[in-house]
Amino acid sequence: MCGIVGYLGTKDAMPILLEGLKRLEYRGYDSAGMATISDGLNLTKAVGKIVILEKELKRRSLAGSIGIAHTRWATHGEPTIINAHPHVDCEGVIAIAHNGIIENYRTLRTLLKREGHNFKTETDTEVIAHLIEKYHEDASLEDAVQKALAQLKGAYGIVVISTKESRKMVAARNGSPLVVGVLDKEFFIASDASAILPYTRDVIYLNDGEMVILNSHSYRTTTLDNKDINKEVEKITWDLEMIEKSGYPHFMLKEIIEQPQSIKNTLRGHIQPDGIEVKMNCLQNGFPKAMPKISAIKLLACGTSWNAGLVGSFMMEKILRIPATCEQASEFRYRWPVIQPHTLSIGISQSGETADTKGALELAKKLGSYNLGIVNVVGSSIARLVEGGLYLHAGPEIGVASTKAFSCQVVALSILNLGLARYLDKVQPLENKEPRVTDKDFKRISNELIVLPDKVQQVLDAVYDKDSGQGIIQQIAKEFKGINNFLYLGRGYNYPIALEGALKLKEISYIHAEGYSASEMKHGPIALIDKNMPVVIIAPHDSEEPISYDKIVSNAEEVRARGGRIIAVVNNGDDVISKMAEWVIEIPNTLAHLVPVLATIPLQLLAYEIAIMRGLDPDKPRNLAKSVTVE
Ligand code: F6R
Repeated sequence: MCGIVGYLGTKDAMPILLEGLKRLEYRGYDSAGMATISDGLNLTKAVGKIVILEKELKRRSLAGSIGIAHTRWATHGEPTIINAHPHVDCEGVIAIAHNGIIENYRTLRTLLKREGHNFKTETDTEVIAHLIEKYHEDASLEDAVQKALAQLKGAYGIVVISTKESRKMVAARNGSPLVVGVLDKEFFIASDASAILPYTRDVIYLNDGEMVILNSHSYRTTTLDNKDINKEVEKITWDLEMIEKSGYPHFMLKEIIEQPQSIKNTLRGHIQPDGIEVKMNCLQNGFPKAMPKISAIKLLACGTSWNAGLVGSFMMEKILRIPATCEQASEFRYRWPVIQPHTLSIGISQSGETADTKGALELAKKLGSYNLGIVNVVGSSIARLVEGGLYLHAGPEIGVASTKAFSCQVVALSILNLGLARYLDKVQPLENKEPRVTDKDFKRISNELIVLPDKVQQVLDAVYDKDSGQGIIQQIAKEFKGINNFLYLGRGYNYPIALEGALKLKEISYIHAEGYSASEMKHGPIALIDKNMPVVIIAPHDSEEPISYDKIVSNAEEVRARGGRIIAVVNNGDDVISKMAEWVIEIPNTLAHLVPVLATIPLQLLAYEIAIMRGLDPDKPRNLAKSVTVE
């Protein structure tokens, strides 16, 4: 995620800000920049690694003992020098660094442009600079910031400086963390404490709705509506590594635990208040004339993204009534695929750099397909290659095993599916003229998407106990850590979960694990089952789906009859499969196509715990790279 650093004190700001940026590098970023005030505002930005910014700063050193800096993880607009923070107003008086997403920036941008403000970037952040400019004409910096923030919808952590008040820095928080470091005559601001730690351990944590006004010798903390508040100065007791991982021992665990927030970020801005429309740029203006209808949908992806794509193909075929298939990009590009006229291909990739997915999309395009993407990394190769799509906004995924990207991909596919249903009903109605999704069903799905982050939190709280180590997942891991084979079974939407659960286990614990469709069990894998074989049966179900709970009950019977040791993932209160299982993991009810989000989480945690108990580093599994940019 983006990183913020600020300094106001007696020393040169530049080296302190640069050091701070380096300490935030672990969070992932694509560009960086810095602004200081000496005689006027000094600004330098660069795309790529901090060393590139550092080289720039060697060429033209930034003077001043007050400054702000930022590492950007692109969300609005590609990673370019222009889009990198800090952003400035029309006159170059104000500089701002921002973390978060401003949801109503389009409206504000239009209004400010009408008032004569000159926009230079594609970012949402720039509207804040212009809003502050507007109010700063006849108000102090802090008053102008307050007035500007009152107009914003969305999440932010911001830090602002102004040449009009060159010994003042204002920072405010609503949804994106900010911490203030306090020394004798020096102040530091950062989006996480690792940037501050070399200088001071005395900090003030801002809460949502709070701001701080720093001067040369003092500071004041207020609410966003200007009521003074007394904030306690706290002592940091953590070391650097713990801060980078927010106190978690591994990035993988951190990324699993932060899924409620990642999913919220994926959903942000898409579901309309009426609950019967979704908004996304790629469908706003329709497809080009050459694509008057959609005859088929091809989802192209690799690994975990392919498992998410499989879920997507099931939900799309069900609702859109168009053939939808999910293909392993690595295979698709090396056979002789037929792309029917008016095919829509959707590339799914966390990194946006997977060579096979990129190659498959290029081939599909060459064969006449119209391409969309579901990508996490903004401005990545795949994001640039496709005609449009959805970003996950899940934040950087640093652990090599993909976790939060999977749940966000399923959520993004569900949003896209709703959007496509509405779009197709207009341009390509079904023969019987029935809507693909009724308003009632649309509302049910969007309501369920909205409560999904809370349900994910319920799963995390119920199955995993970080402090005692006695959660059900930790108990199961202890029991099976020495086993060499695992089987994962599921039907329907639960089949891709079986694949994903097995993939997670094999890649980080090096245990051989097979994910299989339970319906195929009797065609082969049943021969594997004996008293030594743990079988994870994934059986949560949505009573409105025609999916055969009874059938998976029979599969569970077959496993039990052969002595297999059942670990069941079921709905809360299940009383059939639970009774056959040695271990039961319960999750809340949800719609069938969203079960993969909830049911995969315990399996991610199981793989993580087993890897830890086997003495392995889950963040760096052997032989694997985070982004597979070669074939
Ligand atoms: C599994 C994993 C890989 C990736 C695959 C595709 O945990 O990380 O299977 O999912 O290499 O990567 P992206 O999504 O970046 O295209």
